[in-house]
Amino acid sequence: MMNPTEFSPLPKEERLTRPLNRVGHNMCQQRWYRGRTLFRPCDERGFCIDWHLNQRTGGKFMSQRETYCLIGAGAMAEAILSGLLKNKRASAEQIRLINRENADRLRQMESAYGIRCPRQKEKAIADANTIILAVKPKDMDQVLKQYKDDIRPGQRVISVAAGISTSFIEERLPRGTTVIRAMPNTSSMIGRSATALCGGAYATEEDLNSASATFSSIGSVVRVEEKDMDAVTGLSGSGPAYIYYLVEGLERAGVNAGLSHPVARQLTLQTLVGAAHMLLETGEDPAQLRHKVTSPGGTTMAGVQSLADHDFHQTLITAVKRAQKRSKELASPCPLRHCADDPV
Ligand SMILES: NC(=O)c1ccc[n+]([C@@H]2O[C@H](COP(=O)([O-])OP(=O)(O)OC[C@H]3O[C@@H](n4cnc5c(N)ncnc54)[C@H](OP(=O)(O)O)[C@@H]3O)[C@@H](O)[C@H]2O)c1
Repeated sequence: MMNPTEFSPLPKEERLTRPLNRVGHNMCQQRWYRGRTLFRPCDERGFCIDWHLNQRTGGKFMSQRETYCLIGAGAMAEAILSGLLKNKRASAEQIRLINRENADRLRQMESAYGIRCPRQKEKAIADANTIILAVKPKDMDQVLKQYKDDIRPGQRVISVAAGISTSFIEERLPRGTTVIRAMPNTSSMIGRSATALCGGAYATEEDLNSASATFSSIGSVVRVEEKDMDAVTGLSGSGPAYIYYLVEGLERAGVNAGLSHPVARQLTLQTLVGAAHMLLETGEDPAQLRHKVTSPGGTTMAGVQSLADHDFHQTLITAVKRAQKRSKELASPCPLRHCADDPV
């Protein structure tokens, strides 16, 4: 949810008397300028209109005329657009989807979600407020070359391509174009992504708020500095696979201890879900929760001690570090080097 303290209130007397220029497409996006200074429409307390709408809808107001064009119609694009629809961040009329050539995929998406996949790709891009680049990193250069004339400053360009920097995109688009880089993970398919995002050279606070709202429809969002994006890739980008690996290991351990595989799976999964909810709902530190369930000399202590003896934490630290390093290698010095690879 937006923080009301981020908005500049326009003094009441000036709001009533001074003529202001209004730009932008709708109530949620409009910007008010006096001279060269940007103001937002606020109430007496300085709470902007977006904040009020968010309050009323629990942070899920639908911006009536915000229009999205997703370039790329793969798994990630589907996760994002289904999240936008499910959370009523956008209606089907507000979403356009285009790809390179797979017409069957577009027809399938049209019938599943009621969105439009127009033949006139350039127009779909030019008409959108927010353009989401959901293509593989290796295709990014070509996509930007292909559509650079249809993108203009004032539109928001959000890339989810792993390893592609905001400057890489900015250099290929008209000067001043807002670029935001986001790193969701595969749990976005069920609206449970852990997404990190950062802004490029021209992204404003408002742009970042808007991008955060977009990605909050497919899970949680944190803002980071761009230099930390490789660490994000190593932790939450690759993280679901670490957890799957952990589950595989616990299942094997259960079977090894004498349980049937279905029973071991059910117990492992519910233990994972329960522990995750305990962390989220109590807000307690994981170490605190662990201490609470670990009686001296008890069974849990024996198990945890064995993990510690085998450097469990150090193993995880090494895993994230290696993935972070690999992300750096694949993304630099030229993002085009990883022609056949996707860092995630
Ligand atoms: N999957 C994840 O969990 C995950 C997590 C974080 C980030 N990401 C990022 O998300 C991006 C997309 O991943 P994905 O798994 O959704 O990929 P994907 O399933 O391979 O889809 C890629 C899409 O890009 C389209 N495309 C390629 N060139 C194009 C062009 N010139 N013009 C228009 N469309 C073009 C393809 O169209 P055609 O099919 O017609 O060729 C296809 O629809 C990647 O950059 C990846 O790094 C993914």
